[in-house]
Parts: sequence; structure tokens; C-alpha cells
Amino acid sequence: MSQKTPIFCTGATGYIGGAVLARLLNHPNRDNFQITALVRNPEKARILNTRFGVNAVLGSHHERDKIERLVEDNHVIFHVADADDHELIKAVLKGLKNRHAKLGVMPILIHTSGAGVLADNARGEYPSKTIYSDLDVRQLKDIPETAFHRTVDLRVVDADERGYARCQIILPSTVYGIAKHALVEAGVANPRSIQIPTIVRASLSRGRAGVVGKGLSMWPSVHTTDLAELYMVVFDNVMENPNKVGHGWQGFYFAENGEHRWLDISNSVGQAMFELQLTENPEPTSFTVEELKKYFEYEEMGWYFGSNVRARGDRGRELGWAPKRTTQDMLASIKPEVAMSAKKP
Ligand SMILES: NC(=O)c1ccc[n+]([C@@H]2O[C@H](COP(=O)([O-])OP(=O)(O)OC[C@H]3O[C@@H](n4cnc5c(N)ncnc54)[C@H](OP(=O)(O)O)[C@@H]3O)[C@@H](O)[C@H]2O)c1
Repeated sequence: MSQKTPIFCTGATGYIGGAVLARLLNHPNRDNFQITALVRNPEKARILNTRFGVNAVLGSHHERDKIERLVEDNHVIFHVADADDHELIKAVLKGLKNRHAKLGVMPILIHTSGAGVLADNARGEYPSKTIYSDLDVRQLKDIPETAFHRTVDLRVVDADERGYARCQIILPSTVYGIAKHALVEAGVANPRSIQIPTIVRASLSRGRAGVVGKGLSMWPSVHTTDLAELYMVVFDNVMENPNKVGHGWQGFYFAENGEHRWLDISNSVGQAMFELQLTENPEPTSFTVEELKKYFEYEEMGWYFGSNVRARGDRGRELGWAPKRTTQDMLASIKPEVAMSAKKP
């Protein structure tokens, strides 16, 4: 009998990680996978073990030795927990290095970054003209080290270049949609994303839709199930044909299927609030600096919601990724977000 492929997931109870794990559990080859996940909630770990056949190991990101060991024991790593934790990525990379040294194999890391690595400081004032393609390695190399997520991404590329792991980096854009897969239904995974729910919550709190500056800057978006599908397309291709799939600098994947202006999101939030009788005026107004600090943790994070990120996910499409939901679907997803946040502040 052939050995099962050992797979380790971080962030399995999260919005993106949950969608990825749910998709992995539905994979046609699932019976040949031995899936382990690091989980910090004992009840969620119990459900994953008993109902989903996942070896859920209790632990936190602060337990570096445990993470290093778990990575070392697995051949494929889906790192979906945190795009910015240096100590965590160091432990993951150490585990990969150990595995390579011990077994002489080339383990696979599918790391999660974010398209926010391209964010500028437009503050909602204008759409930028520069559009990145993940096939344009020269353009990718020029992203400054000070960019969001960047230093962690560079560590991952460095590991790939040192030759002890094959590394792929997925850069989700605005991920949207209230997730509905089996792990959400079981109460294990987070059903909600970050950006749109943040704008919705801020708008509900101030009683009127808000926008950063004029909202003229642009971002791409991707539906949660299309994003999970991209992870699978990358995974399947790397498993089937490891030598033919790019990695390192040739392994960046922007996850997007269409663009929007921030104002489009805020207009939809305002319209949904109006229809749900949560505001008397559907038209958004600009957040004040005080509001940016209040609703986005700190001022700079607030301005981030007025940045430009313009990118094309050409590499995933070359591998066969075919996202289905478009910008119209993203805008249509906003009313359910408003209704949900209005119920559950
Ligand atoms: N959502 C987006 O639109 C988007 C777009 C681009 C990039 N990203 C990046 O992708 C990453 C995942 O995002 P997400 O939306 O999936 O976030 P999320 O729903 O908050 O998931 C985070 C996951 O990490 C786990 N976690 C956090 N701290 C932990 C710790 N100390 N020990 C053990 N587990 C811990 C959480 O466990 P618990 O369930 O126990 O909390 C959860 O499983 C983030 O770095 C984010 O910046 C997200």
C-alpha cells in the first residue's frame, strides 16, 4: 500500500484556512492524505478529530518547537494563519530545512501573503495606473522591503533559493463572501473576512456608510471559494509535476477576479443600510481622521483602506485556475454582510 501524503495546515479555523481545509477534505484524492492542523481551541480540535478525521494538534503560534516539529513531519505545508509573523515563519522554514536534511526530499510550502504588499498611500484620492502581473518577476522583485507582508515573503523566497523547499506564495486580494462550507457549519471555522466586514461595522457604528477620502483608489477582489480553489490548483499541479511548476520568484500568485473602487463598496454598504432601514441617507461620507483611528485600530491602517492595489493573477490562470465570481458578485455580497453585522455587532 502506498504511503499517504502528510499535509500540515496552520490557520485551519480561520476564514481562508478553513475554506482551504474544507476544500482539501473534499479533494478527490482525500483518502490518500493524512491531514494535521494546529488548533488552539480544544473544542474545535475535538470536532476536527472526530467528525472530519483531521489530526488536530492543540497548540499556539508561540510554541515554535512544536510548529517546527509538525512541519518537519509533513511533506506539504499550507501556511494560512498569519502573513506577518516573523517568528512563526522562521519556525516553519526551520521545520522544512530539517525535513530536507533528514530525508533528502523537497518539501512543499504554500504560503499565504496578501496583495496588500502593493498598497500605495493614495488615501482614496486617485486610481493608480500601475498594474502588476505575477508573471512579471522583475516587477515583483522591485516591491520595496518596507511593504506590508514583504519581509516575511522575502524569507520564504530565500528558503526556496537555498534549495531546501519548493515555495509558493499566494497573495489574496479583498477576499469576500460569508463562508458556508462544512467547517463553518460545524462551528469550527470563521465565516467572515476582514476588509468588507470592517467597513460595514464602521458604517453601522456611525449610522452612515463611510469611505476613506474620495474612495477613488482601486483594489481587486476574490470570492472565498475561488480563492480556496486557487490553493487546490497550485497544490495539484505541484504534486503532479513538481519540476514543471514555478517556485520562489516564479511562484507568486495574485488571487483576483476583477477590480473595484473603494467607493463602490461604500455605495453598496450605504444602499444596503438604507434598504434595511439602518440609515436615512444611503450616500457615503468620508471618515474623519478620528474615525480612522477608532474603526481601523490605528490611523495608518485606516488609510490602507484607501490604497491602490492593482494586480493580475496570470500565473494561477496559466495553471488552470478559473475563478467564477466577479466584481458584481462581490458587490452583491455586501447586503448579507450588512444584515449579519446589524444582527451581531
Ligand atoms: N481575509 C482577507 O481578505 C485576507 C486577504 C489577504 C491576506 N490575508 C491574510 O491571510 C491571513 C489569514 O487571514 P484570515 O482572514 O483567514 O484570518 P482569520 O480568519 O483571523 O484566521 C486566522 C487563523 O490563525 C489562527 N491563529 C491566530 N493566532 C494564533 C495563535 N497565536 N495560535 C494559533 N492559531 C492562531 C486563528 O485561530 P483561532 O480560530 O483560534 O482564532 C485562525 O485559524 C492573515 O495573515 C491575513 O492578513 C487575508
